[in-house]
Amino acid sequence: MSQYADRIRLKSLCEKITTAKEAAKLIKNCNTVGMSGFTRAGEAKQVPLELAERARHEELKITLITGASLGNDMDGLMAETGLLARRLPYQSDAVMRKALNNGEVMYIDQHLSDTAEQLRSGSLPKVNVAIIEACAITESGGIVPTTSTGNSASFVAQADIVIVELNLAHSAALEGMHDIYLPAKRPNREPILMTNGQDRIGTSYIPCDPSRIAAIVITDQEDSYSVVQPGDEGTEAIADHLIAFLEMEVECGNLTPSLLPLQAGVGTIANAVMSGLKKSHFSGLTMYSEVLQDSTFELLDACKMVSASGCSFTLSERMYHHVMENLDRYKDKLVLRPQEISNHPEAIRRLGTISINTALEFDIYGNVNSTHVNGTHMMNGLGGSGDFARNAHLAIFVTKSVAKNGAISSVVPMVPHVDHNEHDVDILITEQGLADLRGLAPRERAQLIIDKCVHPDYRPVMQDYFDRACVSVGGQTPHLLEESFSWHVNMRKSGHMLRKQSSW
Ligand code: COA
Repeated sequence: MSQYADRIRLKSLCEKITTAKEAAKLIKNCNTVGMSGFTRAGEAKQVPLELAERARHEELKITLITGASLGNDMDGLMAETGLLARRLPYQSDAVMRKALNNGEVMYIDQHLSDTAEQLRSGSLPKVNVAIIEACAITESGGIVPTTSTGNSASFVAQADIVIVELNLAHSAALEGMHDIYLPAKRPNREPILMTNGQDRIGTSYIPCDPSRIAAIVITDQEDSYSVVQPGDEGTEAIADHLIAFLEMEVECGNLTPSLLPLQAGVGTIANAVMSGLKKSHFSGLTMYSEVLQDSTFELLDACKMVSASGCSFTLSERMYHHVMENLDRYKDKLVLRPQEISNHPEAIRRLGTISINTALEFDIYGNVNSTHVNGTHMMNGLGGSGDFARNAHLAIFVTKSVAKNGAISSVVPMVPHVDHNEHDVDILITEQGLADLRGLAPRERAQLIIDKCVHPDYRPVMQDYFDRACVSVGGQTPHLLEESFSWHVNMRKSGHMLRKQSSW
């Protein structure tokens, strides 16, 4: 027991230490389970495995709510064993993706700031059991999260019982990095008293009455590493367009050289674009974001960035070890908050973030699809992109102009699924160029997007579509509705957006 002495500081709780198998028995069929974990960081690692194992042999189906996606293939395993009836609010696992696109798992793709609010207001089923990864338990029973904060505090606040996975693989030095604050139930809610992304407004642990901790499972397993790929010519060109645009904003006095707090979405493209800021002339940058990826730490190390606030770290193997070995150096520059606060419209609008998120595709009027491949099949989910886009100082979406070796144009006549509508989108960037849509009417937006963002292989066909729509249909937002989705139909039938199937 002495090996946990500094990790479980309320000694009476040591009696609750048990195996993952025993802890998993506390979950009943049809329960709603709230689990820690956000973009492959800080998820519970052992109890979910036992739950998946139980689901292979007995009738056990749960609703699983997390912060966001889980690491260590946990989402895939739970989907594969049939444990999940319902999943929200975000995932990014190939096996899970298949299960939800087959209709086997009911998936609710949600703004990530909103899940906690919906739990609090009773719009979602009450959480029966919370399973939370911790790096320590305080003298009062407070739970110190690990590499993500996600929705963990909201789960603990609501659950009948709490299972803590105390993960010894995480450094105890993570303690002090979190700032746990939850808004009160409406009405009479107070403002979020934050005027700077580094302000601390809560506690360094998740408050929890120790009597509600039903089991403690000791684990010793690292997070899985991020799978983002290094940047390439395309992402470098996108970063160059972004930097040139931001430099212009500084030059004309709209921004100062430290810009405004940056937010960057998940994935290879956003991470590579953020890394590109290393070569910029900006200084004193800050982040008010959701996921802190490798690029955040590269910018901190390059002294381009001075501080970052988020709700999880999602890092490559090299960066994970670098950060964990230097936590003390980063500690006064980083804050991890509940995702309800990292993504809160009130905070984002007040701070005025520059938000850079990745689109799967966008259309000539600036509507963005971040989630549905070819309009029907879920990729990951919209995550926090909507929380930020609607409330940011600048809502920027980036994507390469083509995907799948040119078979897909990421700029299309009309998106077949809308995550961010034209009213929320300020700037679109592909490797071809940047379209600044601010202050433009739909017809002006369309021409600029065609000129700046569309790949040359698709540009003449897109221009022809827009010209004919203006002449033969007209309107505020001209479209040829008979043709609007023809590129997607071609894609489904022939594997190429412009090639029709020969047997049509
Ligand atoms: N149609 C179909 N597939 C497309 C596509 C399109 N228009 N554009 C890209 N893709 C495919 C790519 O080919 C790639 O497929 P692969 O995995 O088989 O190679 C995959 O989507 C990922 O694209 P990639 O170019 O590697 O970019 P990414 O890692 O940056 O991911 C998103 C892009 C859009 C999938 C990802 O950013 C996402 O899920 N975003 C939504 C959530 C979000 O914005 N969160 C932000 C708040 S944190």
